[in-house]
Amino acid sequence: MPSNCSLNTYDTRTTILSNEEVAEAHYLLRCECAEIAQHARPGQFIHVMISQGPGMLLRRPFTIYTVEGDEITMLYQIIGEGTKQLSEMPKGASLHVLGPLGNTFNLTTNPEPAILVGGGAGIASLMLLAVALREKDIQTLGLVGAQHRARLLSVSDLESIGIAVHIATDDGSIGHHGYVTEILTDLLRETQWHRPTIYACGPHGMLAAVTKIATDFQVPTQIAMENRMGCAMGVCLGCVCPVRIDTDRFEYQRVCTEGPVFNATDIAWDIS
Ligand SMILES: Cc1cc2nc3c(=O)[nH]c(=O)nc-3n(C[C@H](O)[C@H](O)[C@H](O)COP(=O)(O)OP(=O)(O)OC[C@H]3O[C@@H](n4cnc5c(N)ncnc54)[C@H](O)[C@@H]3O)c2cc1C
Ligand code: FES
Repeated sequence: MPSNCSLNTYDTRTTILSNEEVAEAHYLLRCECAEIAQHARPGQFIHVMISQGPGMLLRRPFTIYTVEGDEITMLYQIIGEGTKQLSEMPKGASLHVLGPLGNTFNLTTNPEPAILVGGGAGIASLMLLAVALREKDIQTLGLVGAQHRARLLSVSDLESIGIAVHIATDDGSIGHHGYVTEILTDLLRETQWHRPTIYACGPHGMLAAVTKIATDFQVPTQIAMENRMGCAMGVCLGCVCPVRIDTDRFEYQRVCTEGPVFNATDIAWDIS
């Protein structure tokens, strides 16, 4: 039986409906979680108990990639032991899932256009947002970066909801040869947009680079942080990041509760 841990957060046992490799070392897992599906908002995540074996006592956080009826999916990269074990779990295996957790992207600004910047598996954090933007009929661009062609994620999912996608790969095997942030700079330099807003998720260095670009071009930018987590309930302080409260002062905020979404320029990148 699911339990309501806090307002609209559920700790539930579910069954894997499918768990398939969709790109090199990346899997899409689908399961039925009616309560989580019903309350999930763009940017929110679930905390997943993979097994109770050695080194696996802590749950692992993953963004909710899509919601369809009572089903949710998560798109994940194999990083270490937890995600390796997860990728080996077959259809029918049982999973403990806590969520939805965290804050959400702010959609009240009516961007023109919305620019989604995803690096690697970071694009997973932007998919529910992409759907919400398109439902509001907001022009949306997708900038998707990967190490190489075989690791490229989500392009057809974004295109299927009417989003034009620009691709960058580190080795140039498809799209722009270089970083996705270089495409972002070129687009902002070349295009006179009315009210652009950037939404980004990816490796720490990419997010710091996006923030620098956002500052140079004065474009409001929201980012989803993916710090390592312990409890995901605001208790252990294992996930904190430094957030500026004025020019020479910062405080540590919890990515699991105050985040994972932050205004990019609020993060004290020189300290984090
Ligand atoms: C809010 C949030 C949402 C996330 N959403 C997704 C998602 O949708 N898809 C996805 O693929 N991943 C996502 N992640 C990252 C994912 O949680 C980690 O990759 C996963 O927990 C790694 O578990 P593991 O047991 O495989 O690796 P571990 O064995 O725990 O770690 C292996 C190695 O990776 C490093 N590492 C582990 N986690 C992180 C991290 N978060 N940042 C930097 N280094 C790390 C460790 O230091 C270690 O060196 C998210 C993280 C957060 C906080
Ligand atoms: S993970 Fe424990 S406080 Fe955020």
